Amino acid sequence: MMRKKILITGGAGFIGGNFVQYMVNKYPEYEIYNLDLMTYAGDLTKHQSIEKMGNYHFVKADITDVDTIIPLFEKEKFDYVVHFAAESHVDRSIKNPGIFVQTNVVGTHVLLEAAKETKVQKFVHISTDEVYGQLDLNPTSYFTEDTPLQPNSPYSASKASSDLLVRSYHETYDLPINITRCSNNYGPFHFPEKLIPLTITRVLNDQKVPIYGVGNHIRDWLHVYDHCKAIELVLHKGINGEVYNIGGHNERTNLEVAKTIIHKLGKSEKLIEFAPDRLGHDLRYAIDPQKIERLGWKPTYTFESGIQQTINWYLEHKYWWQKIISGDYRNYFDRQYSL
Ligand code: NAD
Ligand code: TYD
Repeated sequence: MMRKKILITGGAGFIGGNFVQYMVNKYPEYEIYNLDLMTYAGDLTKHQSIEKMGNYHFVKADITDVDTIIPLFEKEKFDYVVHFAAESHVDRSIKNPGIFVQTNVVGTHVLLEAAKETKVQKFVHISTDEVYGQLDLNPTSYFTEDTPLQPNSPYSASKASSDLLVRSYHETYDLPINITRCSNNYGPFHFPEKLIPLTITRVLNDQKVPIYGVGNHIRDWLHVYDHCKAIELVLHKGINGEVYNIGGHNERTNLEVAKTIIHKLGKSEKLIEFAPDRLGHDLRYAIDPQKIERLGWKPTYTFESGIQQTINWYLEHKYWWQKIISGDYRNYFDRQYSL
């Protein structure tokens, strides 16, 4: 029997990278292709433990480049596609929305065309809860799969646009798709421009932690390992055409997150520095995960156990994040915060 070929886009990034490692180790019978353009967020050093494994392959390519993507699909005849590649940082989308439209919307369309033309058996589109917009502070209100899309940032608008294109390829061409919408992830190999790794790495360096506004914005946090397990489940068991929300009821204000990390590292809350608020800053996200739970998913980490695992990982992998913050990232950080 032919071995299944799975194309994972964005597999040099944070979540895609964790998913690539999870799948390469768990499924020696699958051929895993990691396709990535290697933007500022792409890093292949994280894959040193798997790069010599026979079922792992890397392709450097741009998902918006139709002249590369279509021939690649025609040659490799992928069975499944799991699509992570994206511009993913809200602050960058506020400064430079155009690249978000190009990568997230145009790039997804190119992949959909290639998948349709080569009759891919499953196309899992990794989206975000941010497409639903923001919730109020009522603790019993949640995003469900039926919540209307009301994205507020150029990032979430570009993700919502790509979701609609993915849906249309199912409705119009019967492409077997799923869309997953997960809450905020954290865990190993998280690029230190996002709140949790930014806080851990800056606290470890005794640097100030910038908290936007008064820190009362709420995010629903999920360990990346639990996200990977949910995607694996959707890939194998998701009902074609369906959307699945993924989240573990771990709502915290940003101030609570920063203080938890500071306390666990034994440092002073004086490191917290309030910074001008983000434009169009969504107040609260929270997921109702009942549908993915009915499919058979449940998280392994609580926020407490997950944040401890993550802090330990950053303590044990200083070489990884120090390399990142000493590179191009540094220039970006200076422009973003003028600290
Ligand atoms: P990331 O920024 O860490 O990684 C994105 C990867 O995509 C990088 O390796 C980058 O090089 C690659 N890429 C960018 N443009 C490309 C292009 N044109 N062609 C090929 N590759 C390209 O992102 P992440 O945080 O791992 O997020 C992955 C996906 O999950 C995104 O689609 C994001 O919207 C979604 N998501 C993220 C979160 C979160 O908390 N980070 C939560 C829910 C959903
Ligand atoms: P982030 O990690 O950028 O994820 P997202 O915007 O996709 O939710 O931000 C998480 C929350 O933390 C968000 O409310 C913005 C806030 N935040 C800060 O307060 N300071 C920071 O330096 C960053 C990067 C984020």
